[in-house]
Amino acid sequence: MKRALLADSLGTDHAAHSIGRETVLKLFGIKLRAPWRRYGNTKFGGDWPYRLEGLFQSGVEFSGKTILDAGCNVGIVAYEIAKHGPASIHGVDYFPEFITTARNIFHGYRALPHRFDVLDLTKPRRVEKTLSANYDIIVFLAVWRHIYERHGAVVAEQVAVTLANRCTSTLIARTAPAELADAFSSIMRREGFELVHERRRANSTSRGRSLSVYSRVRQSASNEANG
Ligand SMILES: C[S@@+](CC[C@H](N)C(=O)[O-])C[C@H]1O[C@@H](n2cnc3c(N)ncnc32)[C@H](O)[C@@H]1O
Repeated sequence: MKRALLADSLGTDHAAHSIGRETVLKLFGIKLRAPWRRYGNTKFGGDWPYRLEGLFQSGVEFSGKTILDAGCNVGIVAYEIAKHGPASIHGVDYFPEFITTARNIFHGYRALPHRFDVLDLTKPRRVEKTLSANYDIIVFLAVWRHIYERHGAVVAEQVAVTLANRCTSTLIARTAPAELADAFSSIMRREGFELVHERRRANSTSRGRSLSVYSRVRQSASNEANG
């Protein structure tokens, strides 16, 4: 019936397919809510095994640790970490739709303290209000590049420093391309971390380094400067 209506209004049945689902829905006044459309019009990159690649082979022990997943998307990475027995999980992401999904996924994890908040990491006052002062482990996978490209080097550095300052032990980052991974590494070194593990994707090309694990070896430069 709907197909017939479409064919009527568009002239031919074929037209409904050739002009695409989004356009057809627009013709009927239906607003698409797919978050990946609104997120810079990019599509979902890779699949979940691809996104999780190397995370649980990095030697990081999640059990009993407080975790921040910065740029947690719909919470699948956090969900996988939850299976490793952390003390708590806090996930934040820019998009409300993602956070709603993450909260729904975690409804089934009642025994594990968890929280998911909408947060733009580039907004210092919101960051101050939303994040805890300390996390044992911060997971920051495939987010910095987006921030860097959209907001530039200064804001991206400020975000990296903010996260580093809240990390008492381990920060896990996935950053590409290689030049950006290098820039991120220098900030982390300056903020008192050393690179303890690095895993490149098997077929790494322009995507650069795959996964880097930084371990805190001293207080951060900015914390020292603040007294
Ligand atoms: C490529 S996805 C990676 C998601 C997840 N970390 C993973 O590895 O599957 C980038 C994520 O960063 C989030 N993001 C981008 N800019 C952000 C910002 N300024 N503040 C918070 N989250 C942001 C996006 O909404 C998206 O969920």
